[in-house]
Amino acid sequence: MKKHLSRRHWLKSGAMLAAGATIADFWKPAEAAEIGLPNLAGMPIKARLNLNENPHGPAASARKAIAEAIPTGFMYQREAIVTFKKMIARENGLSEDCILLGAGSGELLMATALNYTLKGGAGSNIVGGDPTYMQLLRTATALGVGFEKVPLTTDFDYDFEKMASRINDKTSLVYVCNPNNPTGVLSPAEKLRPFCEEVSRKKPIFIDEAYMDYATDPKASSMMPLIAKGANVIITRTFSKVHGFAGLRIGYLVAQPEMVREINKFCTGGGSISATSMKGAIASYLDTEFVNYSIAKNAEAKAFLYKLLKEKGYSPLPSSTNFVLFPLKTDGKKFVEEMAKQGVAIRSWEFAGQQWCRVSMGTMDEMKVFGAAFQVLA
Ligand SMILES: Cc1ncc(COP(=O)(O)O)c(C=O)c1O
Repeated sequence: MKKHLSRRHWLKSGAMLAAGATIADFWKPAEAAEIGLPNLAGMPIKARLNLNENPHGPAASARKAIAEAIPTGFMYQREAIVTFKKMIARENGLSEDCILLGAGSGELLMATALNYTLKGGAGSNIVGGDPTYMQLLRTATALGVGFEKVPLTTDFDYDFEKMASRINDKTSLVYVCNPNNPTGVLSPAEKLRPFCEEVSRKKPIFIDEAYMDYATDPKASSMMPLIAKGANVIITRTFSKVHGFAGLRIGYLVAQPEMVREINKFCTGGGSISATSMKGAIASYLDTEFVNYSIAKNAEAKAFLYKLLKEKGYSPLPSSTNFVLFPLKTDGKKFVEEMAKQGVAIRSWEFAGQQWCRVSMGTMDEMKVFGAAFQVLA
């Protein structure tokens, strides 16, 4: 059989084209364990609520732009990179050399980890809250950097005083995810801003704002204006959430030009983004109607989940994101497995002496699948 025919045969017979391929297809059990995901091998997943994606995206405008970008997809996309950087810079009152693009913000988190690990050298550390999003910290700690973890306060905010006290000569970076993952809790700008102003005079501070677009709380505010004022603050944003681009891979980093130049040595500066994704992102960035729609659909799913959880006697944390964390009354791993058997993918955590369940917001149909399974198992 010719090579292309045998490949087609494999695709047809394999799981890749199977309708409703399950999450289990994406990770082997050992790989899932490695990145802290439950083993959902072979589970008939109907509600994919474990990865904080946005099932309402991408916007129709983005899909159109993606389709139109295909004929010129044979070319490297330097012009689109520049256009996109200019758009972000203009929106934030910054110059274009403050912006770095990546294939998802994950690429930029890792490039930042590499830069500050090398700068910090042997015995250096990164200060951050615990629990938090681990991508940057996982890369840094794999390279031997210490993670100075400061437990969250009893109301699940960062303990800024304690974090400040843990910063020392060997600290190369301070990492804050706001709103935080896995808690979903927003740290109010009135507390975070003075911390950033103070810390950034001594050490660079990284604010991961992956979920900031969902934070409609009046206490929420991006730390972006501090960069315009010259502060040593690094911010990442992603299109994976409110824009529904998780599989299309678009993220950006904003910082002082010198920091951007340094971090850029460890990534592709936008070169790893496909032509289609780049054009789609430019269209989506301009589509405020879609962004508002995404936020509204997320709020609708969250209201449904809060009502359900509260009726069943659970106390979810206040979420400023597209997921909700609540304390479980049972073993987290077991609960995740039982829910997966009912077709629902979720995640569990253990911290502060408590087991927790994290549920991403799906479509209303997916939320109802969650609701039906939860009624049985909770
Ligand atoms: C807090 C946070 N930052 C960054 C990311 C990375 O997202 P991406 O690489 O898709 O931009 C995620 C993904 O879930 C996240 O939760």
